[in-house]
Amino acid sequence: MNTEEYITAHSDIEPEYLAKLNRITHLRMINPRMLSGHYQGRVLAMFCHMIQPKTVLEIGTFTGYSAICMAEGMPEDGVLHTIDYDEELENFLKDVFAGSEHGHKIKLHIGDALTVIASMNETFDLVFIDADKEEYQAYFEAVLPKVRPGGYLLVDNTLWDGKVLKPVDPKDKETIAIMKFNETIAKDARIEKVLLPVRDGLTLIRKIG
Ligand SMILES: C[S@@+](CC[C@H](N)C(=O)[O-])C[C@H]1O[C@@H](n2cnc3c(N)ncnc32)[C@H](O)[C@@H]1O
Repeated sequence: MNTEEYITAHSDIEPEYLAKLNRITHLRMINPRMLSGHYQGRVLAMFCHMIQPKTVLEIGTFTGYSAICMAEGMPEDGVLHTIDYDEELENFLKDVFAGSEHGHKIKLHIGDALTVIASMNETFDLVFIDADKEEYQAYFEAVLPKVRPGGYLLVDNTLWDGKVLKPVDPKDKETIAIMKFNETIAKDARIEKVLLPVRDGLTLIRKIG
């Protein structure tokens, strides 16, 4: 058993509906690794149980796995807005959310994240950033004014398969963008932050005052 298997085996089991969604994603989608998965899903659900956010924004829905995990931990009257620009996912996602006991808390937006965010008037208790890696800084700047003081952001893939630690290929724009994002965030006095070694790196941020 490796460390990852040990960690997963000693955390909550994957709820049955999510295990099914995980399998379907692996069968039907070209890039199933994008899904948060069992362990990170339990981490996201736990954060939402802890924070009890009434309004959540997710940037990057994919097959809806992380959205359902977060909705699971939210209060009954909570609303999770999730954005994805892939129109081909729309019908699939409508069925996935309709079949989940937490789906009534989820509102799907199909469109480019920055455009949708600009049109939103909500204030968020928690934002989960998990879409285009080259746009991470832009997502962060677009959502920070919409996060309530003391609210949280979670940013996925901030270790990027360990590539942020190694000499970078100048053509590898995604790695360069994540490295720059991590450096900028580390110096940003508007927020508190900890980079957690969860799966591919999950940065937890709190907006100050
Ligand atoms: C890593 S996946 C999200 C995984 C999901 N959060 C989970 O954990 O199961 C990233 C998603 O972001 C979407 N995406 C990428 N660029 C986007 C953009 N500019 N606007 C909206 N969605 C975008 C992709 O279509 C993809 O489904």
